Amino acid sequence: MQPCFASDNYAGVHPRVLAALAAANDGPAPAYGADELTGAARQRFKDILGSEAEVFFVFLGTAANVLALSAMTRPHHAVLAAATAHINVDECGAPERHLGCKLMCVDTPDGKLTPELLQPFLLHLGNEHHNQPRVVSITQATELGTVYTPDEIRSLAGFAHDHGLLLHMDGARLGNAAAALGCGLRELTSGAGVDALSFGGTKNGLMFGEAVVFFRPELAQDFAFIRKQGMQLCSKMRFIAAQFLALLEHDLWRANASQANAMARLLAERVAGVPGVQITQAVQTNAVFASLAPGVIARLQRRFAFYVWNHEQNVVRWMTSFATTGAEVEAFAAAVRQEALADK
Ligand SMILES: Cc1ncc(COP(=O)(O)O)c(C=O)c1O
Repeated sequence: MQPCFASDNYAGVHPRVLAALAAANDGPAPAYGADELTGAARQRFKDILGSEAEVFFVFLGTAANVLALSAMTRPHHAVLAAATAHINVDECGAPERHLGCKLMCVDTPDGKLTPELLQPFLLHLGNEHHNQPRVVSITQATELGTVYTPDEIRSLAGFAHDHGLLLHMDGARLGNAAAALGCGLRELTSGAGVDALSFGGTKNGLMFGEAVVFFRPELAQDFAFIRKQGMQLCSKMRFIAAQFLALLEHDLWRANASQANAMARLLAERVAGVPGVQITQAVQTNAVFASLAPGVIARLQRRFAFYVWNHEQNVVRWMTSFATTGAEVEAFAAAVRQEALADK
C-alpha cells in the first residue's frame, strides 16, 4: 500500500493492542463494564491522572466530546472553542444537536485559545438575553498540530474558573502533545486545572476506544446515564479496557506518539526549502501544514492520500502516525520535491 499522510486514523492497530484484544477474548466476562479488565483500566487511569479521575469508556472521539460537554452544560449555556475545533467543524453539528446549546467560535492564528481571545466573549455573562458561556473547550494537541504548555492550560483554567466556567480538553491527541512537551499526562490535565477530558486512544494505536475523564465528582455523578442515553455504553466493555491497558502499559502511548511526532518533524525537515513549499504552522506534534501550488497538490494527491485543509489558501495537512516509517517519509518528501520542481 502507498504511504499515507491523510490522518492518524488511517493507521492500523498497534500489535501489542491487538494482542491484548486477543488475550481478552477468553471466555465470558460480566458485561457493561462490570468486568475485571474495565476495573483495572479505570484504576490505571486514576494512578496516572490522579485519584479524583472518574473514567468512562466510549467508542468514539465525537461521542467523548459531546457526552462530556453534555455533563457540563444546559441548553442556555455556550461552549467557547477555537473556530478550528473538531467540535465546531468536524462533528456534523452533533454538539449543537445533543447539547442544545450554542458553540461560540474564537478565531485564532494557531488553533490555540488564550484568556485575551476569550475575554470579549464574556461581555454578556449574567444577561438573560444571551447564551451564558459555561465551558471553554481546548484541543490538545490542536487541530493545527500545535500544543498548549502546562502554564498556558493553567492560565486558561484560572481564567475559566475565575468567571464561573469549566475547562474541557479534547485530548484526541493528548499523547502527542505530552510526548512533544516531554510532560506527563497529569501535568497537562488535572495538574493544570482541566475539569473534563476526552482522552484519545484510536489515533494512538487502538482499534477503537476513547475515555471520558472527569476531575470533579459532580460532573461524573450522572454520567453513567448520559453515556447510556448517548448510546455509548459498550456491552463488551472489556475490549475497550484491554486496549487501554496495553496502551498505558510501559508508556506505549508515549512511544507511539513520539514516533508519530518524529516522523512529522522529519517530513518538515525534508520539505523545508523545496521551492514553492511553505510550512504554515509550527510542527510541534504529528502534523505538517504546508501551502503548495494547486497543480502540485493535485498531482501529489494522485499518488498519496492526504487532505487539503484550506482550499482557498492551498494549504494541505500531512499527518503521520505511530505506524509511519522513516522510509515512507523519505519517499513522500522525494515526491513532494519532484512534483514541486516539475512545476517550476
Ligand atoms: C481533535 C479531534 N477530536 C476528536 C476526534 C474524534 O473523532 P471520531 O469521532 O472520528 O473518533 C478527532 C478525529 O479526527 C479529532 O481530530
